[in-house]
Amino acid sequence: MHIIHVTAEMAPIAKVGGLGDVVTGLSRACLLRGHKVEIMLPFYECIQKQQIEDLCEDGTYNSFHNGNWVSIRAYRGAVSGIPVILIQPSNHFFKGPSVYGGSYNELEAYLFFSRACLEYIQVYGTQPDVMHVHEWQTGALPILYWDMYHNLSIKKPRLVLTIHNLEYYGECRVEQFSMCGLDGSFYATVEKAADDRTIGHNPERLSLLKGGIVYSNAVTTVSPTYLKETLCSGWLASTLIRHHEKYLGILNGIDIALWNPATDVFLPANFHEQNIEGKLICKHYIQRGLGLDPECSVRGGCLQHNVRKPLVICITRLVAQKGLHLINSAIQHIQEIGGQMVLLGKAPDARVNHEFEYLASVYNGGCNIRVLLTYSEELSHMLYAAADMVLVPSMYEPCGLAQMIGMRYGAVPIVRKTGGLADTVFDMDDQANLDKANGFVFEGIDEGSLKFTLERAFRYYKERSTMVVAA
Ligand code: ADP
Ligand code: GLC
Repeated sequence: MHIIHVTAEMAPIAKVGGLGDVVTGLSRACLLRGHKVEIMLPFYECIQKQQIEDLCEDGTYNSFHNGNWVSIRAYRGAVSGIPVILIQPSNHFFKGPSVYGGSYNELEAYLFFSRACLEYIQVYGTQPDVMHVHEWQTGALPILYWDMYHNLSIKKPRLVLTIHNLEYYGECRVEQFSMCGLDGSFYATVEKAADDRTIGHNPERLSLLKGGIVYSNAVTTVSPTYLKETLCSGWLASTLIRHHEKYLGILNGIDIALWNPATDVFLPANFHEQNIEGKLICKHYIQRGLGLDPECSVRGGCLQHNVRKPLVICITRLVAQKGLHLINSAIQHIQEIGGQMVLLGKAPDARVNHEFEYLASVYNGGCNIRVLLTYSEELSHMLYAAADMVLVPSMYEPCGLAQMIGMRYGAVPIVRKTGGLADTVFDMDDQANLDKANGFVFEGIDEGSLKFTLERAFRYYKERSTMVVAA
């Protein structure tokens, strides 16, 4: 089968969160099963060209934006062995130092990108069996396909939409929607077909994600529990219920080639289930590198073993979804109960960033806590390898990859029971599920529930010489 993913993110060249990881991991898994897979994504200015193998220009063509045809250069290459098609418009779209947040209108840019991908398929006579779009950014592609392209293509692709997070639904004004060449009457049709005036949504606006749900042949989301949650609440629930026969919850996996402690090039020492010595080296390396109290030190020429402190990590986008108040409270509590914690987080919101900068100023001078407000792929690998535990206290989590990556690197997950976290982590003290037990789970959104669970995890840590749970 020939599958083309159309996406705003791809790891590691254009990754902001789990979307990038999943697109790469899923593509590799399908390639290994013998399918032909390609990933189409914008050629963001921030992409480092040296990360793309065999990069070459594929040609130029035009696509439509706001009454004009805009010239596009298409490039081909591969990223860690996965074929990519990069779309580079000649206008200002996708320019800037990061994947998102450039000084252009994102909604208009992704509407343009969605049409440009269909135009590419048309111009170059590419004949995919499946076009797999992700999130609101490419939700317009199925709408555009049914409006303009389905009579033109030689072979008709089936359209699949994956919802990674229903909170981001691509709200769009009529004028913006028309910019990619769809007229207002089609806007009205989409609204009608998708069930119009649902509570909590501005009736004057269209959601690109909603349009994608209606016009795709199949819709998936990233865990079975999140599927149930999305059918029970949220303003798109009625749309999803209406389309439930084509709506599936399929649990994400991680790319085990990219996330492999036995071969990971970012680690000071590699390790695997049968030999975890390298993991201890990684922990000491991080402790020393970040100035945390080390487990061993050399005094007077002798190796001295200090008190072992469990190292908890939290690697996350700092947004409300991730349970900011619980992350904040974990920092304080872990210090109180004799552990260490490293938070690696990036806040897109200045107010949140400010709050965590304050925490950094309070704690970073000591020897047990580090609050690192940045994005670093390299550091994230080292932290997963060094960690005893990985904390994911999300308010909601469609799937979550941090807990899975943590387990792959021998770190025990501590998670809130929601979405994909509930499908992947099973509590050590849950008598009904002891055969699956692999971490610690709490349900409440209050600090007490988190603290109680951290204390349970620390007790286990102290009781056992090692807490490494094989992934
Ligand atoms: P989400 O997609 O909602 O951000 P996931 O758990 O699915 O959450 O995926 C997050 C991915 O992004 C993981 O690979 C995680 O390691 C990575 N990540 C998140 N924040 C950072 C950061 N500050 N630096 C490096 N990697 C990060
Ligand atoms: C989204 C979700 C996250 C999920 C990821 C990959 O960003 O927030 O839970 O793991 O997509 O599907």
